[in-house]
Amino acid sequence: MKTISRAKAKTAPKAARIPLFDLQRTYLPLRKEIVAAATRVLDSGAFILGPDVSAFEAEFARAIGATHCTGVCSGTQALQVALEAVGVGRGDEVIVPAHTFVATATAVSAAGATPVFVDVDPTTLTLDPVKAAEKITPRTKALLPVHIYGYPADMDAVMALARKRGLKVVEDCAQAHLTRYKGRVVGGIGDMGCFSFYPSKNLGAAGDAGAVATNDQSFHDAAKAISNCGRSDPDDRYRHDRMGQNFRLDTLQAAILRVKLKRLAAWTEERRRGAARYRKGLAGLPITLPPDGENGTQHSYHLFVIRSERRDALAKHLSAANIDNGVYYPIPLHLQPLYADLGHKTGDFPATEQAVRDVLALPLYPGLKDAEIDRVCEEIRRFHR
Ligand SMILES: Cc1ncc(COP(=O)(O)O)c(C=O)c1O
Repeated sequence: MKTISRAKAKTAPKAARIPLFDLQRTYLPLRKEIVAAATRVLDSGAFILGPDVSAFEAEFARAIGATHCTGVCSGTQALQVALEAVGVGRGDEVIVPAHTFVATATAVSAAGATPVFVDVDPTTLTLDPVKAAEKITPRTKALLPVHIYGYPADMDAVMALARKRGLKVVEDCAQAHLTRYKGRVVGGIGDMGCFSFYPSKNLGAAGDAGAVATNDQSFHDAAKAISNCGRSDPDDRYRHDRMGQNFRLDTLQAAILRVKLKRLAAWTEERRRGAARYRKGLAGLPITLPPDGENGTQHSYHLFVIRSERRDALAKHLSAANIDNGVYYPIPLHLQPLYADLGHKTGDFPATEQAVRDVLALPLYPGLKDAEIDRVCEEIRRFHR
């Protein structure tokens, strides 16, 4: 027994794990309020639409500076609803960056159209507007820029291209709650903005949820109907004016999201402070830090993504030090088996394929302690010694 305890004492205790996401850190301080909101809905027995959904839609629209918002059941469905609302359908093409989550493209397919992949800007990893222009055909109906990781796409160039070629713009803001482009919050810059409230997103529900926002009354009316079984008038239950499905936001989720939305601005600031600390702690190392601050952009840091030529070894080193990390996304969309029939091959999109090799997400979320950020920085420094 004695021998064992002496041996134990000699071994340095393994540092506590730093997860890539930790939802408990924002849930526990709000637990009482969230449980009260959920209980209120459960006790009411009214689970479909109703005042909590309308209130959340109004509050979220206000938060992002748009005039209208429709709650839906996920970010994927937000994209499908928005595409259909702006008129995308069978036979159309929609331009999509190759570096994004698969839902950006599958929503296009679900709307009956074909995603046309385009490479990203090598620095910002968002849709390259010059390359997008080269892919426009008479069938192109819309551009679908993605504000990846929380950094905004080049919306001036995207909007100019769309206006010049008569295209609609649907913004994928699934990772970009309160991201700013030249001072404007994203989501209300294009024709429609689509949000995900997947639990780990910057504003996360207790399950799946999403929303579409717009400043256009007719797109808003279309989104409302499409997401609610094609009803133009939600109270006229058995009249269906257009094709639609049940993509509604659950009342329970809306009530929970209302509690969390009040903290979103403060949480975003906390993410930005954490990012600033990472920048200081990682300065001078042979890694690339995420872009931020150019032209009045404000990153919302859904993910803090660095780039490293030795990414795989660095990831292994961090994991061994009990620091979780992640690669978004290991297979680019143009090389996904799902889209093999589009005929792409390795080498088609060099900037996207470079990102596959070198991106690495580090932990960054509200509630992450300065000491934890410092430990991540220290491990990355140790790796480079
Ligand atoms: C860029 C992007 N688009 C769309 C989605 C889809 O959102 P959801 O998971 O809520 O369907 C996600 C979420 O992972 C995303 O990151």
